[in-house]
Amino acid sequence: MSSEVVSRSEVFGWLKKELYGEKQSSSSPAHTFIILGASGDLAKKKIYPTLWWLFRDGLLPEETSIVGFARSKLSVEDIRTACLPFMKVTEEESESLSAFFRRNSYVVGRYDDGSCFSQLNTHLSSLPGGADANRLFYLALPPTVYHDVSANIRAHCMSHKGWTRLIVEKPFGRDLQSSQELSAHLSSRFTEEQIYRIDHYLGKEMVQNLMVLRFGNRIFGPIWNRNSVACVVLTFKEPFGTQGRGGYFDSFGIIRDVMQNHLLQILCLVAMEKPASTSPDDVRDEKVKVLKCIAPVCVSDVVLGQYVGDPEGEGHAKEGYLDDPTVPKGSCTPTFATAVLYVQNERWDGVPFILRCGKALNERKAEVRLQFTDVPGDIFNQSCQRNELVVRVQPDEAIYLKMMTKRPGVHFSPEETELDLTYKSRYKNVKLPDAYERLILDVFCGNQMHFVRSDELREAWRIFTPLLHHIEGQRTQPSPYTYGSRGPNEADELAKRVGFRYEGTYKWVHPHTT
Ligand code: NDP
Ligand code: BG6
Repeated sequence: MSSEVVSRSEVFGWLKKELYGEKQSSSSPAHTFIILGASGDLAKKKIYPTLWWLFRDGLLPEETSIVGFARSKLSVEDIRTACLPFMKVTEEESESLSAFFRRNSYVVGRYDDGSCFSQLNTHLSSLPGGADANRLFYLALPPTVYHDVSANIRAHCMSHKGWTRLIVEKPFGRDLQSSQELSAHLSSRFTEEQIYRIDHYLGKEMVQNLMVLRFGNRIFGPIWNRNSVACVVLTFKEPFGTQGRGGYFDSFGIIRDVMQNHLLQILCLVAMEKPASTSPDDVRDEKVKVLKCIAPVCVSDVVLGQYVGDPEGEGHAKEGYLDDPTVPKGSCTPTFATAVLYVQNERWDGVPFILRCGKALNERKAEVRLQFTDVPGDIFNQSCQRNELVVRVQPDEAIYLKMMTKRPGVHFSPEETELDLTYKSRYKNVKLPDAYERLILDVFCGNQMHFVRSDELREAWRIFTPLLHHIEGQRTQPSPYTYGSRGPNEADELAKRVGFRYEGTYKWVHPHTT
């Protein structure tokens, strides 16, 4: 047992070796990480904290400088103050935190002004590694400025001898046409190998686990198809509303915010064929093939919802979407959607993939659920329920298989139970990295497996654009649902209509309560 106990620094030492190859020598290349939009919400809440965690755990390449760029006049000290609440720093780490911020600098400038990027370049060239350092630009910006920024990086800020990579945040456009325009603009200036389109769900532990679960086990392969699977349910639920972010949310809606990207990416990993290898392009080739087999979503296979206030909400009254002062009056933007997609290929023909997502629901949860067909030739008087394999992405990562067993003891009747792999119990001392930590490391290492390729993006928009144009053109009224509920009843009816069966008989006994 004692031989298994290793220190945290040893673990990270190994990991670093795995990531960057043999121990970095003094001749290892220097890196500069540039955050464009350094004054914004994403930078403050996610990007700076993630860089700090990587630095703290010794996972950044030795010689890495961090440069913020935005329009606001800020100092590194201002950035430190703004980010601190999100960085989870312990008292012992305060010295290390100061060392982290010593690697930071900040440049003020406009996104549409070439001369500001020229100044940025002068600053970058004064840092370790100079003009030859590898440069990684994170576009933590609204898509409206992507055009200017990418053109200015290309014209003024490319690394001379090192690589230049660009991380682009969603939303990648609003529909097929705008996304194609953005893609054309980016690809006229950068190669596909330089562009990292981030979908942070691809950085989550259980989403990455789907490939190992499927292709590293003999037992799932033969049942992972239309012969045994009745339906697949992919769920994203949040227990809070737009919380003053309604202005941004309202121009996108839940389909663009979650369904077209996070849930569709998970669908691809559940439905794809085994790739020829785990190389990024082999994996993404298979994902694209899945998308190509999905027809645009039918309006009749969709239920939209919008939350309304719950004056008696637990603790304090919960406001409805339209009560948010940042949401335009009378908005029809959906905050909930259920849509049924079909993958028309030999493996999945006829199997409904039910995608469900919403805000202001009864719980926080993201999961993948495969519901299997009934056992043919029943001999137990219809007392067996369908098997379900559930991969819970969050919270509390778990994989459980709902199954029937003989009720223990003198009885001879079937009873529902589960095979349960709960990560907290099975992997007690393992810290799972945040999705952004993994993905930013991948960009340093040049691994695009967990990033969205341009053809995936095009197919994803092809599937959802007709629906989005229809509901926005017609101003389709979403069904109201109460803040804190499970969403509109029509969504359950749709799932039932296409074949999902909910019996409500399964009772899980938490192992710690027994
Ligand atoms: P549930 O019985 O809660 O839900 C199963 C599915 O049915 C979900 O898709 C759910 O949707 C849907 N559903 C729930 N209520 C209705 C309804 N009234 N009409 C139609 N559909 C409905 O989940 P499970 O059976 O998987 O598990 C039960 C509980 O046990 C859960 O809390 C689960 O987390 C827990 N459990 C935990 C394990 C672990 O931690 N390792 C292992 C096994 C179980 P929706 O999501 O909208 O409610
Ligand atoms: C983002 C959405 O992509 O994902 C947000 O824009 C959502 O609306 C968030 O809240 C959820 O991410 P996570 O990792 O907290 O599940």
